[in-house]
Amino acid sequence: MTKQEDLQTVASSFQSFLEELHSKYNSLQDGSVANYIPELAKVNPDLFSICIATINGDVYEVGHYKELFTIQSISKVFVYGLALEDHRRDYLLTKVGVEPTGDGFNAIILDEKSKRPYNPMVNAGAIATTSLIKGSDATERLNRMLDMFQRYTAHNVFVDISVFTSERITGHRNRAMAHLMLHFGMIEQNIDEALDLYFQQCSVMVNCHDLAVMAATLANKGINPITGKQAVDSRYVKDILSVMYTCGMYNFAGEWAYKIGIPAKSGICGGIIAVIPGRMGIGVFSPRLDSRGNSVRGVKVCEELSQQFGLHLFDCSGNQLNLDS
Ligand code: DON
Repeated sequence: MTKQEDLQTVASSFQSFLEELHSKYNSLQDGSVANYIPELAKVNPDLFSICIATINGDVYEVGHYKELFTIQSISKVFVYGLALEDHRRDYLLTKVGVEPTGDGFNAIILDEKSKRPYNPMVNAGAIATTSLIKGSDATERLNRMLDMFQRYTAHNVFVDISVFTSERITGHRNRAMAHLMLHFGMIEQNIDEALDLYFQQCSVMVNCHDLAVMAATLANKGINPITGKQAVDSRYVKDILSVMYTCGMYNFAGEWAYKIGIPAKSGICGGIIAVIPGRMGIGVFSPRLDSRGNSVRGVKVCEELSQQFGLHLFDCSGNQLNLDS
């Protein structure tokens, strides 16, 4: 068998594996969709897709991978990257920490001593991060953010106005956190504008294919494997992946790191991205969530992929999946 035929065999058996994985967990109906943002409660709970994008730009996908949904908290990863580019690491660290909280994603807490939000992956830290995005006015800040997302997705992205409006009207906890951070000087600009931008970033529409390509971009030193263009300065990829690893799955982050061992980020849309540095990005979408706000099927799929293909960062067993050599 030639090397090319060999690779084709590996690719088609990996695609079959994904299809089996999808049908295995398709019957799992545990959890419920997020309903604290009224527009999100309208999602079809049965949607389910799994996509893997390699750093060479090959994409494997199964299920409803074209279905659009709002990115929600997964956006925090990418906005953190933009804030790092805008301000550099040291300044950002004075405004947002990098410590896991062990609390829920919407907890109204700040670090007792520094008054910083704990990390950029929880709502408080994300709002503070978003408030730092540069731009001469709200429109320029939004456009810079959309441009940034487009570097990762390789196509134009849009804000879902219904979800944005729904979040804006009901986001009282987020408003409370913003006021608290304004009080302690962690947010300096107009908080209504910062909150609007935060609600807009959460309402950016993507599909599961996009999630995998975005994750693969982080796996590929910040270079989008489809366009070959730099989406984020490679110097900051390690910062982004570190906070994903320690804080990306909220108060499940420790168990996730222990069992699954891959930098990841979930959102209450039911999406999860996971990044295997130097190899691939995983996107999973299934809207039913567990009590911590993570997709039930998404966690199962990532757990099985990690175990089956030795994707845990600290796995030394030698049974790693190789899709590209
Ligand atoms: O701020 C919020 O509540 C939502 N826009 C985002 C929350 C989210 O996705 C947290 N994820 N688990």
